[in-house]
Amino acid sequence: MPRPQQDPPASPETRWQGLELLGRGYSRRCVVDPRDPGRCLKFELADPGKRPPGPLRRLRLALARRWPRFGDNARELRAWRWLQRRLGPEAAQARFAPVEGLVDTPWGPALRCRLVRLPDGRPAPNLHAFLAGRSDWQVEDLCAAVEDFAAFLRRERLPLFDLNPGNFVVVPGDGGHPRLVCVDAKSVLASKEVVPLSRHVPSLRERKITRRAARLCRRLREAAPTLAPAATGH
Ligand SMILES: Nc1ncnc2c1ncn2[C@@H]1O[C@H](COP(=O)(O)OP(=O)(O)OP(=O)(O)O)[C@@H](O)[C@H]1O
Ligand SMILES: [Mg+2]
Repeated sequence: MPRPQQDPPASPETRWQGLELLGRGYSRRCVVDPRDPGRCLKFELADPGKRPPGPLRRLRLALARRWPRFGDNARELRAWRWLQRRLGPEAAQARFAPVEGLVDTPWGPALRCRLVRLPDGRPAPNLHAFLAGRSDWQVEDLCAAVEDFAAFLRRERLPLFDLNPGNFVVVPGDGGHPRLVCVDAKSVLASKEVVPLSRHVPSLRERKITRRAARLCRRLREAAPTLAPAATGH
């Protein structure tokens, strides 16, 4: 259940090129599509404020500058198509924000996706919002939602390892409990390992998902030190 309202923290950056900014990731900006409030657009732009990329990532960025098919947007589109084939369209949409395609816009090439919104119409917040104190959910409810997503990945044998706060938004699910929707599944098709054993060896894959989910929950709990599990009713 939502925890009591807290004072809102300093408001984050809200616009890019005059467009409503939803998120600013490692190498992309995500904005509301000005032509359709039910869609968002992702632009590939390196963020000079973030830590420099490792060698594999640097190589990918260099290739993507020359050939867009190596970029994050093309990879996310391929990942979504793969998930749809693997899970079927309905099951894929229950857990992942649908990706519609690569488009040209007045602001440059972008990836167009279905924008996940809350029932009241606001864009669904990501888990960074919780880490920054801008979320009403109880930490143990969010951790249960993380574990539920990890169990789904293990059950469906999906090698999705980027369980990062920026890759998930939170919506109300059954019984008023939070539910996670993944808004960036590109890691399901790419590995940061040179020899991607954990993608192909079931026991390694399951262990890695469990480890990443536990790490995400640890981060959430560290951000909410005053909310001990007992005090949250779990
Ligand atoms: N379909 C969507 N619906 C609602 N919000 C979204 C959607 N896609 C992205 N966002 C918002 O934009 C943020 C960044 O999105 P995304 O993870 O795709 O970018 P990124 O560059 O891969 O970021 P990172 O490197 O942090 O993973 C998300 O955390 C989320 O707040
Ligand atoms: Mg991401």
